[in-house]
Formats: sequence, C-alpha cells, structure tokens
Amino acid sequence: MHRLVNKRILLGVTGGIAAYKAADLVRRLQDVGAQVRVVMTQGACEFITPLTMQALSGHPVHTTLLDPTAEAAMGHIELARWADLVLIAPASANFMARLAHGHGNDLLATLCLATGAPIAIAPAMNQQMWADTSTQKNLLILQEKGIKIFGPGSGSQACGEVGAGRMLEPLEILQQAAEVFDYQLLTGKHVVITAGPTREAIDPVRYITNKSSGKMGFALAEAAAEAGARVTLIAGPVNLPTPSRVDRVDVTRATEMYDACMKAVEEGCDVFVATAAVSDYRPTVTADHKIKKSTEEIHLTLVKNPDIVASVAEHAKRPFTVGFAAETRDVVAYAQGKLVNKKLDMIATNDVSGSNVGFNSDNNALTVIWPGGHKVLPLASKAQIAKQLIELIAIRYKD
Ligand code: PMT
Repeated sequence: MHRLVNKRILLGVTGGIAAYKAADLVRRLQDVGAQVRVVMTQGACEFITPLTMQALSGHPVHTTLLDPTAEAAMGHIELARWADLVLIAPASANFMARLAHGHGNDLLATLCLATGAPIAIAPAMNQQMWADTSTQKNLLILQEKGIKIFGPGSGSQACGEVGAGRMLEPLEILQQAAEVFDYQLLTGKHVVITAGPTREAIDPVRYITNKSSGKMGFALAEAAAEAGARVTLIAGPVNLPTPSRVDRVDVTRATEMYDACMKAVEEGCDVFVATAAVSDYRPTVTADHKIKKSTEEIHLTLVKNPDIVASVAEHAKRPFTVGFAAETRDVVAYAQGKLVNKKLDMIATNDVSGSNVGFNSDNNALTVIWPGGHKVLPLASKAQIAKQLIELIAIRYKD
C-alpha cells in the first residue's frame, strides 16, 4: 500500500446504494497516506450527504460544475490536473454510459474528460443492469479507452437479487488502486537522478543559488521507484521528504554533486537523469569570514563549474543519459543544441518564463526531444509528468 502514500486521489461518487461504502473508502485511502478530494454527482447526494464526505475527507466536496465558490477554491480544471488517479466508486450504469460516450454534462463527467490522470471505476448496480448488453458494450468501450475496471464482485445484492454487480469492498478497491501505480518498466535497473539547486558559498553566510525546489526531480525519483528501479537521488539543498524506496545523497555545492554523480556512474548505473539546476559558476574563492561592508563596490570572480550531465555522457561506463533544459525563449531550439553539445540520449525542456510551470511550481509541461523524435507532455502535475517521462525513458532506453 506504500504506493498510495502522498498520491492524490480524486474520488468520484455516483448514485447507488453502495455510495455509503465510499465513506469508508475515504478513510482507508487516508489511512495509507493518500490525499483525497471528493466529487459527488446529484444522484450520489440522494444516498449520502456531501457533509459526511466533507467531514471525512477534511476538504470541501465538489458537486456542481457551475459553483462559483467551489471554482474559486479549486476550479474543475485545476482539480482534474491535481489528481494522480480519478477513482469512481461506486460507478453507476448511467455514469458508465456517460463516461463511455464522452459526456460532459456534470462536474464528474467533465473532470474525467479534462484529466490526464488514469481513471478507474468500481461499478455497482443490480445484476440484471450489469448483464444488460448496453452496459456490457459500454464496458468494452471503457476498457478500450484504457479505463481501469475494479470488479464488480458477485453475491447477494441490496435489491435482494444474487449475481454480479456488487461494488468491491473498500479494501479490495484500495489494493487495486495501489496497483495502478505499480508499473514495472524499469525493474532491475539502477536510475540516478539529480534534483534541486546547488548552493555556491561566497562567505559563511552568503551564497549563489537559484529557484529550484527539487519537486520535479523528487517526482521523477518516486516514479522511477514505482517503475521498479533502484533509485539514487542526488539532491541539492531542498526541503522535501525522501520518496519511499529511494536512496538519497544530500549535497550542497555543484562540485559535491559532480563527485556524487561520478561515484554513482563509476559503481554502475543504467539511466541518469539530470533534473538539478546546477549553478554554472561558483565564486573562485570562498571567504573564511563574513565579508564586511566597506567599499561602494565589491567584485566577485566566478569560475565555471564542471558540467555534470556532459561528464556523465562522456564517461566510459556511460548510462542512458537524460538532461533537462530550463529556457525562457527559443525553448526547443536551445534544448536541441544542448542535446547535441552535451551528447545526451534525451532532453526534457521546460519553458520557465512563467510561474505556473518549471521552478517551484507543482505543475510542469515538457517537450521531450531525442535524436529523430520528440513528444510534448502537456501541463499536468509534476507527479503525472514524471510518470510519463519515466515511461518515455524506459521505452527509449530499451530501443
Ligand atoms: O526543482 P523544481 O522547482 O521542481 O524545478 C524543476 C526545474 C525547472 C529545475 C527542472 O524542470 C529543470 O528544468 N532542470 C534543469 C535546470 C537547468 O539547470 O537547466 P540548464 O538548461 O541550465 O542545464 C541543462 C542541463 O545540464 C540540465 O540537465 C542540468 O542539470 C545540467 N547541468 C547544468 C550545469 C552543470 N554545471 N551541470 C549540469 O549537469
């Protein structure tokens, strides 16, 4: 269940007697460390109150598309981007039909259209409704769309009939939700990832650094671990918890990051991802004591830091080497130059001119370029972008 730690689960509840089990599901998800936000259809509100779900989840429950108060707190598009998984439990026959045919006629259906996250449904309905040819046709459409189907189970139903159509128990749903995050593309591989800024000391109290929070690199480390890799995360000074199953090496200066990376490559790694915003220069001299204010001007002489990712790409034990490029203009052209000059296998570039992607944001959007191809990963949470990038890396690495 550790795969659900910190995962953002958007729980959609549709109308049906099994809606009461959604209350227990919220608790179970939170118990294993997931963050939960609840969206209810009008039908669901007939069976269980939004207040109950709000009290359990600790967050306002979203029920309508055109609610200015809810939109002001977290708009529906924001909610769609926020989710790592959209889980609909229970999913009624009516909702399955609407989802299969791409309707956007209420908040939950619209969110499903707007999200880039995986969608899973736990159907719950009368056994005759489940067996009906329309429902079964819709099921096929949903499976073809890549929507994950949890259950349904079989047994005696609230209506007194016996058969398939019961919603799975919350613990079974929890288990299957955890498996959504278990994609073993990099099993047995050692992935080394750099993250965060570096900090170049001027004197004991001052330094040169940049705005990197480490979020992108840490999300990649988590995604690589979930893909089955052994992960070493070489992190600059950031304030983030270490993702589970990840070995973390903390460094401060670029030269320390260089040493840690070279050691990891020397020991053997299969994939190297340079997400860190490494300071290109460092002060030539670090003063032993705090520099005192005296003259009108002081001059700082800087010397170039080693280029870590380029050195990794030149190493005799060269892993599959992926760089990042943070650009504010001519984003793709500059990234292509770095791909060639640093002799990389792949580069992921982000436009960091705005505040909604790149440095310190929870979201990102990337153009990933490799010799002979590219792929755009549109705006999504860093967790989702990381998962998509790790999938791309795994495919290119195996080619
Ligand atoms: O940490 P976050 O707040 O989540 O922000 C994420 C990010 C914006 C930092 C990340 O998405 C990103 O773009 N990282 C690369 C930042 C950067 O330094 O780009 P660059 O274009 O200057 O460097 C190109 C590549 O060379 C990068 O892979 C960098 O790690 C590497 N490099 C740069 C200099 C150096 N001395 N050694 C290096 O290895």
